[in-house]
Amino acid sequence: KKGSYDHFMQKEIHEQPHSLTTTMRGRLKDSGVLLGGLKEYLKTIRRSRRVVFIGCGTSYNAALAARPFVEELTGIPVAMEVASDLLDRQGPIYREDTAVFVSQSGETADTLFALDYALENGALCVGITNTVGSTLSRRTHCGVHINAGCEIGVASTKAYTSQIVAMAMLALAVGSDQISTQARRQVIISGLSSLPSKASEVLKLDAEMKELASSLIDSESLLVFGRGYNYATALEGALKVKEVALMHSEGMLAGEMKHGPLALVDENLPIIVIATRDACFSKQQSVIQQLLSRKGRLIVMCSEGDASAVCPSGSCRVIKVPEVADCLQPVINIIPLQLLAYHLTVLRGFDVDQPRNLAKSVTTQ
Ligand code: UD1
Ligand code: BG6
Ligand code: NA
Repeated sequence: KKGSYDHFMQKEIHEQPHSLTTTMRGRLKDSGVLLGGLKEYLKTIRRSRRVVFIGCGTSYNAALAARPFVEELTGIPVAMEVASDLLDRQGPIYREDTAVFVSQSGETADTLFALDYALENGALCVGITNTVGSTLSRRTHCGVHINAGCEIGVASTKAYTSQIVAMAMLALAVGSDQISTQARRQVIISGLSSLPSKASEVLKLDAEMKELASSLIDSESLLVFGRGYNYATALEGALKVKEVALMHSEGMLAGEMKHGPLALVDENLPIIVIATRDACFSKQQSVIQQLLSRKGRLIVMCSEGDASAVCPSGSCRVIKVPEVADCLQPVINIIPLQLLAYHLTVLRGFDVDQPRNLAKSVTTQ
């Protein structure tokens, strides 16, 4: 079943041009999107006072990646909830809320308990899951199957990118009644259709990421700085590294750098800075300058053609990725970090598909 690949994680990373295609199949049209599972609920979603995203682990990070474009295209405020934390706080969920549950397996205990809680509180409950027939799919009022195909590696990869794409289609569908964002929606629709080919392109970085991994093999820690559309990329990239390569890694909001993380910077600690093109680009350029002036050991992810714009001194290592519509850039940017985590794990001699102490589906609290 792994075919020519050594591990499921590797196979699933390289499958993404295909899994992204199947997520959009029959749903993405030039004129808009058609999500059969949401059709009858769009009006209710549009009337809701809040969208609350709820999930755990990588699925939470996918929702975080979706938050900016859901807010932008729907105008509805989006709240983020880690399922266990919502339950710990017994946080407010109202009848006027649309609660969106994101889960690859559809069986994560905390997410399902949060679903029961939201149902009791009268919210409209929407599922985003990879598993037809799962508890999440059955108990939600409606939802979207991401159709990424079975994912076996404990570290979620292709489900992450397909979840983001499913939520982009959700945002387009909910926002489709708004005239003012029509041109923007069109840009995102053509961006979505270009994703499979851009994913194939970025996968060509495989050998380069293996080489980068070999230079990081003895590091004790790795920081990842992102902001805006790519804050989630920083969290998810760091999560991949810690869960499979068993290396300490933290994703950080670049805008918070001066409020603590800067104290860690020296010539040894590797720091990945995500600085692809979007409205935050110049802010990331100045973050890079400030890290370099403290002798930071930088690896900068940038758009093709931007190597000298992000690092004029030439003293950073650069990862060049193809550009897509800004809000979809997280789908492309995570792929080199998945490859990095994969190669780091193999080089460090750890189990890629069954990381120590972790389970694919956490069905107990
Ligand atoms: C559906 C069919 C698909 C078929 C297509 C043809 C299924 C599972 N899907 O896809 O095989 O090719 O019509 O038009 O038979 N749902 C939830 N919660 C979730 C996820 C989904 O309640 O977390 C519900 C949806 O609201 C919907 C149903 O499950 O009622 C199927 O969802 P989905 O597979 O996403 O719908 P389609 O894309 O229309
Ligand atoms: C586990 C998995 O911790 O559950 C992660 O190891 C996953 O990969 C998380 O992101 C949430 O799982 P699910 O199925 O709810 O998306
Ligand atoms: Na359902």
